[in-house]
Amino acid sequence: MSSDTWKRQAAEKALTLVKPGLKIGLGTGSTAAHFVDLLGQRVSAGLQVLCVSTSERTQAQARALSIPLTTLDETPHLDLTVDGADEIDLDMRLVKGGGGALLREKIVAAASERLVVIADESKLVPVLGAFPLPVEVVRFGLAATRALIGELAAEVGCQGHIRLRMGADAQPVVTDGGNYIFDCAFGRIEEAEALDAALKAIPGVVENGLFLGMADTAIIAGAGGLRILGDQF
Ligand code: A5P
Repeated sequence: MSSDTWKRQAAEKALTLVKPGLKIGLGTGSTAAHFVDLLGQRVSAGLQVLCVSTSERTQAQARALSIPLTTLDETPHLDLTVDGADEIDLDMRLVKGGGGALLREKIVAAASERLVVIADESKLVPVLGAFPLPVEVVRFGLAATRALIGELAAEVGCQGHIRLRMGADAQPVVTDGGNYIFDCAFGRIEEAEALDAALKAIPGVVENGLFLGMADTAIIAGAGGLRILGDQF
């Protein structure tokens, strides 16, 4: 079976949590897109929900499926958010932002009663960090911010190449918030909480892709079936 099939299976399991009337955050990425697709099918069959998207990409998908959409300004508290991840450890600490949507994803997750992460088994890792950590930064003072990220990360044991994310047009990728992203190839993040705190102390850093203590449930699909971490169903 392919990883895409597993992503779909994880999304199908998450869909069982959806009840009429729920306010739902919609994640970003190929796994979350399966969930949005399945939710769209339920909506066209009559399910009533209200959703907030974590990216312009997801917004376009949801709109095309006629999923009712709102904003966090109109609906500041959500019941459930379903999103993917780039890495998940056994404590349900996450690395997110491979798709560049980490800032809105974190804002939507923080506004949600329950964050359910869906993934194929390749995302489950013993230690975070093999996937380069995305760090969203303002454009002003880019070189200074990069230097500070390197210095403060090294103080908590993280070293590696810090690369400005570039697009297919050879220009820096601009996030939905108008910022840039540094991908930090630390290899191993042993002290995720310390690294998170260090990055948050840098003025030019808007957010980083570490989601710590935020996920309530992780649904991991793989060759052995479904594995549920955290709060069960
Ligand atoms: C988007 O910014 C990310 O946080 C995604 O949730 C993450 O990259 C997972 O994407 P896939 O489901 O495509 O692997």
